[in-house]
Amino acid sequence: MCLPVFFTSFTTLAVVALGLKPQPQEPPHLPSLPLIGSLLSLWSPLAPYILFKQLQRKYGHIYSLKMGSHHVVVVNHYKDAKEVLLKKGKTFAGRPRTVTTDILTRDGKDIAFGNFSATWKFHRKIVHGALCMFGESSVSIEKIICAEAKTLCSVLSEAASAGHSLDLSPELTRAVTNVICFLCFNSSYSRGDPEFETMLEYSQGIVDPVAKDSLVDIFPWLQIFPNAGLRLLRKCGSTRDALLQKKYDQHKVDYSDHVQRDLLDALLRAKRSAENNNTAEIRDESVGLSDDHILMTVGDIFGAGVETTTTVLKWAIIYLLHYPQVQRLIQEELDTKVGSGRSPKLSDRGNLPYLEATIREVLRIRPVAPLLIPHVALSDTSLGDFAIRKGSRVIINLWSLHHDENEWKNPELFDPGRFIDSKGTGLILPSSSYLPFGAGIRVCLGEALAKMELFLFLSWILQHFTLSVPPGDELPSLEGKFGVVLQPAKYKVTATPRQGGAINEGETL
Ligand code: HEM
Ligand SMILES: *[C@@H]1O[C@H](CO)[C@@H](O)[C@H](O)[C@H]1NC(C)=O
Ligand SMILES: *[C@@H]1O[C@H](CO)[C@@H](O)[C@H](O)[C@H]1NC(C)=O
Ligand SMILES: *[C@@H]1O[C@H](CO)[C@@H](O)[C@H](O)[C@H]1NC(C)=O
Repeated sequence: MCLPVFFTSFTTLAVVALGLKPQPQEPPHLPSLPLIGSLLSLWSPLAPYILFKQLQRKYGHIYSLKMGSHHVVVVNHYKDAKEVLLKKGKTFAGRPRTVTTDILTRDGKDIAFGNFSATWKFHRKIVHGALCMFGESSVSIEKIICAEAKTLCSVLSEAASAGHSLDLSPELTRAVTNVICFLCFNSSYSRGDPEFETMLEYSQGIVDPVAKDSLVDIFPWLQIFPNAGLRLLRKCGSTRDALLQKKYDQHKVDYSDHVQRDLLDALLRAKRSAENNNTAEIRDESVGLSDDHILMTVGDIFGAGVETTTTVLKWAIIYLLHYPQVQRLIQEELDTKVGSGRSPKLSDRGNLPYLEATIREVLRIRPVAPLLIPHVALSDTSLGDFAIRKGSRVIINLWSLHHDENEWKNPELFDPGRFIDSKGTGLILPSSSYLPFGAGIRVCLGEALAKMELFLFLSWILQHFTLSVPPGDELPSLEGKFGVVLQPAKYKVTATPRQGGAINEGETL
């Protein structure tokens, strides 16, 4: 018998018989801890999100497990996910502490791993404001992304003329990193710039461990960094911090109250105005604007903004290689709506529904953060019919939401058409079981930016090139490698220039 049904009917019976108010039960618990620990390890060829999806059959949509001293609740249905993220967003807005995030964020002085607090709210507000600023400013984020898209296309052109296939991964990383650099520091890097190479190196050394370790406490089999790993992480962390500190010092020197160049300036301005303000509320907030806080917040934007966006681009290209007919449809749409005489702009987004649908489908079928970032219950509360204790870690299994057979027809099938209406012209959202950026007060801060980047990079590439697997190579695998960020394996592409698809060198954006 299904466990939750049993619990529910039993409770209902008790209520009817005794006229009592139902006492919420804790969610069904996986069998005793040491056993399940080893059981999970035995099954480890299955990625945790796939295992968690399967465990629903036995335990229902919500169940709990104990790992070490941590009580972990796993949520697999969108209705419960929305209760956690939206309806009770504040109650579930905590984050767990882990060894690596403490090292890298100086004990949670950032946004992504900081607990819900006045300081955290204040940081989010400043960063959000700075991101919005770029929508309007003269050097708009659109120009920056397009400049990077152009460079990307030149690299593809060179490879095509030389008859080479290439691994796009480093090029995509550079393009995405440059967009973030511009946002944070009003600077960008050309290929081969030593400071840029340093940045790429430390990013690699950080993203993976952090992504994994924030879950290590929960999934012990991911524990792959004993001391050597931590040493490397500390080293990469201090390289990162030195670079951030350098940028910060330069900004302090050039700072002016009248010009806001970038995110660092926005944070500096908030710090100054807090320091000059005597009201109690602002003084409290100024506690959250130490140099540490500012550096960690900027570091966060790199951590959260680069790997995620790059990974989605890599998945999108893999699916285009597997589904050349999807690639053709996007190109036809581009040819009709944009033509070959100019480059795609953000204002074309509304006219290119099939490209937009393809991006949505990539984010559905391969969510980069299949388990989001763990949340923590900040007080005793409930979820559905279940009681949740303060301090429980709550894992939203986005994979279950995005592959729910009751919500998506053939969820394993890549089909951008599911996001297109029956007339074939408009975008739809066929199910509410879709949260690629999370939701509520912890929703991704970079959602709008990420969507601009995905749209512009993909439209520029596909306007100019047709991508295919190099002759003799196999199609890249559609299975990812799990490290919280769901990574595709390395692969190469051949870019064939399209007719009339020459990059218009003199074009102004
Ligand atoms: C396609 C690319 C991206 C995807 C799919 C994505 C997805 C997500 C998800 C699922 C979360 C966790 C939500 C939760 O824990 O409930 C998150 C958090 C976050 N993202 Fe993104 N993200 C992307 C790009 C970006 C970019 C470009 C930035 C930076 C500008 C960014 C900044 C953040 C930050 C700061 C958080 C932490 C928010 C918090 O804890 O309050 N993300 N993102
Ligand atoms: C956030 O608060 C919860 C509950 O008080 C606590 O269990 C958790 O360790 C805290 N997380 C951080 C990052 O300080
Ligand atoms: C950003 O830097 C560029 C030069 O790299 C400069 O021309 C521009 O004015 C700067 N933006 C702002 C807002 O100061
Ligand atoms: C101090 O804070 C108050 C309340 O937010 C605000 O109205 C005022 O303009 C601030 N003063 C300065 C000098 O920044």
